Amino acid sequence: MSSQVKPHILFSREQIEAKVKKLAAEIREDYQDKHPLLIGILKGSFMFMADLIRLLDFSLELDFIRLSSYGRGRQTSGKIKVVQALRCPIKGRDVLVIEDIVDTGLTISFLLDYLQKRKPASLKLCALTDKPSRRQVPVTIDYLGFTAPNKFIVGYGLDWDEKFRNLPDICVLEGEG
Ligand code: PRP
Repeated sequence: MSSQVKPHILFSREQIEAKVKKLAAEIREDYQDKHPLLIGILKGSFMFMADLIRLLDFSLELDFIRLSSYGRGRQTSGKIKVVQALRCPIKGRDVLVIEDIVDTGLTISFLLDYLQKRKPASLKLCALTDKPSRRQVPVTIDYLGFTAPNKFIVGYGLDWDEKFRNLPDICVLEGEG
């Protein structure tokens, strides 16, 4: 990592908190009677998932799947792999996928296709951030937090080379090449 690279706040912890509350209210409206299965994509979504579910005061279940699309650094390899599979069967369940960021869309379109083949009753996507300018495949985001500029962002679960996930704000890496 270059010593020139510094995180600069893009979305503050207060803005994130307000946005997570808004998303939770929308999700509550649609899922409160459905006992949904929320699936978080590791690792990036762990912090968003933890904050979101504390605001969902109805019956639900959680599972996690770990996918890998990036190698070290900031470039996507374009190849998606399931690194850690789901434990819960999803057939007939109302499934809501929780993602930290949709960038090229390759990861989430792979996952939605993978899940759809397992015949859930319904399948929707909640993403905290979206970078539409980077999209390579079309993706419908049912519940969206922030639209981000075409800059590399870190924090609140998002990493650069496994670093910066612990930042409480979503930041742009200033000085990135
Ligand atoms: C990141 C992010 C999304 C995906 C988005 O995950 O968490 O899952 O990339 O990129 P895409 O739309 O271009 O496919 P990553 O593979 O870096 O793993 P991580 O969640 O462990 O950081």
